[in-house]
Amino acid sequence: MAAAGAAAGSILAHPSMRLAGSVVAPGDKSVSHRALILGAMAEGETVIRGLLEGDDVRRTGSALRALGALVERDRRADGPIWRVEGRPWRAPARALYMGNSGTGCRLLIGAAAGRGVAAVFDGDASLRSRPMGRILDPLAKMGACAASREGQLPVSLAASGRLRGADYVLPTPSAQIKSAVLLAGLGAQGETIIREPVPCRDHTERMLEAFGAAIAIETEPAGGRTIRIDGGQSPVATAIDAPGDPSSAAFLVAAALIVPDSDILVRGVLVNPLRAGFYETAREMGADLSFENQRLQSGEPVADIRARTSSLRGVEVPANRAASMIDEYPILSVLAAFAEGETLMAGVEELRVKESDRIAACEAGLAANGVKTESGRDWLRVFGRAGDVPGGGRVATRQDHRIAMSFLVMGLAAKKAIEIDDGSMIGTSFPDFFALMRSLGAAFDAPTSD
Ligand code: S3P
Repeated sequence: MAAAGAAAGSILAHPSMRLAGSVVAPGDKSVSHRALILGAMAEGETVIRGLLEGDDVRRTGSALRALGALVERDRRADGPIWRVEGRPWRAPARALYMGNSGTGCRLLIGAAAGRGVAAVFDGDASLRSRPMGRILDPLAKMGACAASREGQLPVSLAASGRLRGADYVLPTPSAQIKSAVLLAGLGAQGETIIREPVPCRDHTERMLEAFGAAIAIETEPAGGRTIRIDGGQSPVATAIDAPGDPSSAAFLVAAALIVPDSDILVRGVLVNPLRAGFYETAREMGADLSFENQRLQSGEPVADIRARTSSLRGVEVPANRAASMIDEYPILSVLAAFAEGETLMAGVEELRVKESDRIAACEAGLAANGVKTESGRDWLRVFGRAGDVPGGGRVATRQDHRIAMSFLVMGLAAKKAIEIDDGSMIGTSFPDFFALMRSLGAAFDAPTSD
């Protein structure tokens, strides 16, 4: 099934003259999933503004409806509002189809397990190839019973009594694992403790607090965190104003950095330090970036990001930064291609299990456009061409929205146009990508519908 805002078929990005203007970043995908899920677990009506209306988040909304919650979109002159009302959850009549969304799927499995509800979860070919054992293992320790196809979708969760709290060390810095365990722990008996040696995005923790849940977080001197939540808590409905998505904004910002004479402002971007690694790295590469008008929005730090064309140099991106920019490596690999010198991205094995194997997808896309790379299991090196990127290639997007957008951005500043084989997945996370990019001056051959 095509995604919302879909652009099925191949798309060509042309070398563009100049990007200029001011746009509002689309709502953050991580915050949007969590706002819907916690709203559906809460007592009372939660009102959400700025929700990302991408295919992934819509599927979470549909799944929550099937689980018994009221989820409604209310059209308003100043933008849509989403209303969510928690009601007792029930076993859905049919399998919950989560499309391409690892976040929606893993968080909902955790929440449903915590509520003892039976449900079957499924997804598209990309999601079916991704590991689910990473959440099913800790949930099983808490007493949940799930059958899967060797740790992959479809996953069939059995009805259960109350789960037990757990003391769990995150084996990899994954906010999806952390959040699945936290959401399960909310309904469990006793305390759930999660220890994360390397902290990863903390939107679930922040939002649990906003929904009135008692949650304690300790940060150790070395940076690790311990999160404690008591079971048997009922979140209380609240209002959420979703900030803009730094992972989506990264495509706009990167385009402005590499297209000549550009100067853009992306307004309302989430700049939570656990999400801002791409911007830190771009600055180290010499990017002319500034965070303006910094403020707090629904408990999250937000800024307007100004980006101007810059001469970039290669850098070493340390492994301990990976969690804070895990979704931005594909677009970073494009920036690295335009930089002078080599860029080494270390500690990035998680890229192998995203919507595609992103190390392999980036290497193939870069090679098709005249850029050399080297890689290992958990690292990628890009040999920068100091602004002189040949382009002219066709890129296989492998059902991966971020691979699609990264190489479209590359085509705006390469010597020759770049074609991607399929733009339909862009709608999973950034349905307004083409409209926003065109409003800044980007030239694409298709689609013209949005
Ligand atoms: C997300 C966590 C990350 C990220 C994904 C969104 C989240 O995945 O890649 O796009 O909202 O929790 P992992 O938890 O697998 O690192």
